[in-house]
Amino acid sequence: MEELKILPQCQHSCSWLKDKLTWYKKQDFWNTQKLHLGSILAQENFKAEPSDLMLCSLPKSGTTWVKALSFAILTRQQFDESTTPLRTTFPHDVIPSIEEDLEKINKVNRNELTSSAPLMMSSHLPYTCLPESVISSNCKIIYIYRNVKDVIVSHYHFLREIFKVAIEEAPFDDAFEEFCEGISLYGPYWNHILGYWKASLERPGRILFLKYEDLKRDPTASVKTLAEFLGNRFSDEEVGKGVVESIIKLCSFEKMKNLDVNKTGLRHNRERKFYFRKGKDGDWENYFTREMKEKIDGIIHEKLISSGVDLVVT
Ligand code: A3P
Repeated sequence: MEELKILPQCQHSCSWLKDKLTWYKKQDFWNTQKLHLGSILAQENFKAEPSDLMLCSLPKSGTTWVKALSFAILTRQQFDESTTPLRTTFPHDVIPSIEEDLEKINKVNRNELTSSAPLMMSSHLPYTCLPESVISSNCKIIYIYRNVKDVIVSHYHFLREIFKVAIEEAPFDDAFEEFCEGISLYGPYWNHILGYWKASLERPGRILFLKYEDLKRDPTASVKTLAEFLGNRFSDEEVGKGVVESIIKLCSFEKMKNLDVNKTGLRHNRERKFYFRKGKDGDWENYFTREMKEKIDGIIHEKLISSGVDLVVT
């Protein structure tokens, strides 16, 4: 594997985030060094099949939630609420990440799996950095996205927790300014969204955009759309029996957050409980000044809306 060439580009000399994220010039995005390495390994070694399903997102957009929902949808004929592996397995372990769990994915015997269920995996990589086989296989992609302001707040707390920085030593302003410069996990945020948006125009019907706020507002409609896209739509009988509602309940924030498996233990050295914070939309109002709101709205207008992106992210 080619040696990592990291450019030291962090602009904020006073930031508690200084040098935590780095820019790898061959990839065109920000990340931790460890995740840059995982990304390169995935690009070089992951082989997608046309029947694979990929869940793609920026971190902190609702990935954990959609993993739980997708797994519950795809396995509902095998398990019910009391037997589902989600009660004892972290959602990121039932749907592994190509950047972080490649070894595990490569051990899966696809021949055995394909007859029962498609293989579902996740990635935070920008579209143009996905392994070539993901693009050439034309496999289906679900893209979960979220209001940028809530992503900024969630990202701030997550980085603070994983890098073990006390809240009083971690001014939100620093994290906000860095995010606006594009410095965030797999960021810039806007490049990520723009990449998947452009791809969806080139690959009609192969990329489903799901919005965190829509899942919150009308989970029944979003879960039905997700199931249909996964190739596993709910029958009228299932709808009548309340199967959709029971999946929504099983994967709800309160239920997931309070499961022992999600309260304890680690995922690649990060405490699993950090993946469940408030689970609300609109928390940004507790953090943003008017100037911050105007600044980020301006950036989104310039980078996304003026490029014709028809997704509401503010
Ligand atoms: P907050 O930090 O705003 O609470 P990701 O899974 O992409 O890392 O995103 C994490 C965000 O999704 C966190 O947001 C987390 O609390 C929220 N989340 C996790 N599980 C959820 C669920 N079942 N329902 C709603 N939100 C959830």
